[in-house]
Amino acid sequence: MRLDIITCLPELFEGPMNQSIVKRSIKKGLVSIHIHNLRDYSTDKHKKVDDYAFGGGAGMVLSIEPIDACISKLKEGTDYEEIIYLTPDGDKLDQATANNLSLKRNLILLCGHYKGVDQRVREHLVTKEISIGDYVLSGGELAAMVLADSLIRLIPGVLNDESSALSDSFQDNLLAPPVFTRPANYKGWKVPDILISGHEAKVEEWRNEQALNRTKKKRPDLLK
Ligand code: ADE
Repeated sequence: MRLDIITCLPELFEGPMNQSIVKRSIKKGLVSIHIHNLRDYSTDKHKKVDDYAFGGGAGMVLSIEPIDACISKLKEGTDYEEIIYLTPDGDKLDQATANNLSLKRNLILLCGHYKGVDQRVREHLVTKEISIGDYVLSGGELAAMVLADSLIRLIPGVLNDESSALSDSFQDNLLAPPVFTRPANYKGWKVPDILISGHEAKVEEWRNEQALNRTKKKRPDLLK
């Protein structure tokens, strides 16, 4: 998968996109991430990428010209299945969306800032709008990282079998069951006997039961 991320704050991506599973996926050649500084596409002598809103009101709006210039340049070399704008009024990200997007080859993620982007970007350039939850972040960067991480871990070959994405929470509309590791007894707090019984079928049955109970208790909405 190739991810092109358009942002006014490219430095924000340096840490999170270079660690752990994302780093490993890049090393394995399964993912490439390209960060584009929107300011590089500004024709303004001060590299301005925003302007006041027509009609007044507080806050700056990202202009269409640098965004269009950047997207057009990217499209010259690559066919994108989706151009995704991260925004609090987008479709709420869930595991089904992540599963679906993880199958795509080329995606653009556009990070908004300030009061958002000129509406014409949304109407004419973007193909999908995603929110990571009902709260407002200072910009789309953290949301883009959340989205990227949720997709990348689902790409076949990124996770090894032990950490397989199939047993993640939400994968079957169920939360994941509890997990334990050594020691089997810590200060008298014991691991359930079944998990050290060596009885694989029973362990599996226990996990399914626990996943269902946990979901009923914590997220009954998922079972509807
Ligand atoms: N930009 C600001 N807040 C956001 C959110 N909740 N989801 C996606 N993008 C955002």
